[in-house]
Amino acid sequence: MDQYLHRRHRLLTSSRPLPDFDVVTADGPWLHLADGRRVFDGSSGLVCVNVGQGSPRVRARVEAQFTRATYAGAAVVRPHVQLELMDRICRAVGRPQDSVALVTCGTLGVEVAIGLARNIARARSGKRRADILTSNLSYHGNSALTLALAGNHARRPRPEDGLDLGPAFPAPYPPAHDPGPGQPPACDVSCAEEVAKAIDDRGAENVAAVLIEPVNGTTGGAYTPPDGYLRRVAEICRARDVLVIHDEVLTGLWRTGTPLASHHWDGAAPDLCILSKGLGAGYTSVAAVLVDPDLAPLLRHPGADPLPAMGTMATHPLQAAACLGVLDELEALDRTALRARGERLGDRLRTLTGLPGVRDVRGLGHFYGVEVAPGLLWPLMEEAEQRGVFFYPFTGTGHPKSEGLVVAPPLTSTDENLEFLTAVLGAAMAALNNQGRVHSPPTRLNI
Ligand SMILES: Cc1ncc(COP(=O)(O)O)c(C=O)c1O
Repeated sequence: MDQYLHRRHRLLTSSRPLPDFDVVTADGPWLHLADGRRVFDGSSGLVCVNVGQGSPRVRARVEAQFTRATYAGAAVVRPHVQLELMDRICRAVGRPQDSVALVTCGTLGVEVAIGLARNIARARSGKRRADILTSNLSYHGNSALTLALAGNHARRPRPEDGLDLGPAFPAPYPPAHDPGPGQPPACDVSCAEEVAKAIDDRGAENVAAVLIEPVNGTTGGAYTPPDGYLRRVAEICRARDVLVIHDEVLTGLWRTGTPLASHHWDGAAPDLCILSKGLGAGYTSVAAVLVDPDLAPLLRHPGADPLPAMGTMATHPLQAAACLGVLDELEALDRTALRARGERLGDRLRTLTGLPGVRDVRGLGHFYGVEVAPGLLWPLMEEAEQRGVFFYPFTGTGHPKSEGLVVAPPLTSTDENLEFLTAVLGAAMAALNNQGRVHSPPTRLNI
């Protein structure tokens, strides 16, 4: 047995068989394989390589910090580089006065946001406020707490592991509100009343926050909320002294065409928001939790509970330097051109809905879910990869279960790159059709 086959059973990073996809080098959006082929990264790795690989700007920042100091715990050393990063992040997402907790990954960002929200809610309106309410089509990380809270039951199949926590309300998307055969999707702004009901059922005095992905990530595959939904959720929460936390781990920093996904809708701004994938951009593991300036002072009040935000490697200087390089890259992008390219990508992808086997295309900016008929996902990924594009899958949850490809190329992709991506996807679907592997009707509405 070759060394790789032998060792891959011992490496416990994925419940699926570990891949044979053998990347030896990478530059920009391209992955160079051991067999000499190059493959375009159509999903930015796990939707994080937002500015491509091998950035000279990131490298320059990390090298400069490396020569200064490679460790400086923020609890004991004046955190210059971290303070610089805090200011840059806040400006980048249009929340210049926010306070920021820097931590080591998306999951921990969510955990720390929960801790901060509880502290704020308790300081403001009562010590019992502990509950965090989530939707049944959500993913917020892979710790025992975040898996228990969220609605992605594919990742947490056993009810007893839910610790009696969540999820608390139906997401405003078809798998959660199935309208029935032949009916158009029934989701609209009124879905927000489910959030009001969930808070009132628990008793608002027990609830610290509602935690939501403003655009659904990889659980449902890029569902976007009905117009007015996020604003109405914010109003419902404010009327009950409940905080709103937006999990923008995946969507933050221009993935959806705006600095934050919530910027697509008026009145949707949250009290706390979590950034991660787009901030580290695959160069470093990091998350930032932003707290509204009207609320942050409550965290420092005499008598406030201890901050949940410390850790040996949190706010590590090399991490912070890499993030500054990523922000340099994002600032260098032509935003108008970026938005236009994202829209063209969406338009091209939506033409695929005419093909047999493609049930839906949804999303915005540089983030789409291409839902396919059951049984097509893995062969489609293979056909696409053979033609030169890598895609990450979403394998869904809810009823009916949806599955498909996450289309999320680096924000630095060119028009030519994106044309290549959509052409390959069309050709891969056509190949499956020609092989007689597509048997189901074309779109979700005809199911
Ligand atoms: C919306 C969302 N929240 C949280 C997480 C967890 O982030 P991490 O994998 O960095 O722990 C993810 C990861 O995919 C995510 O998509």
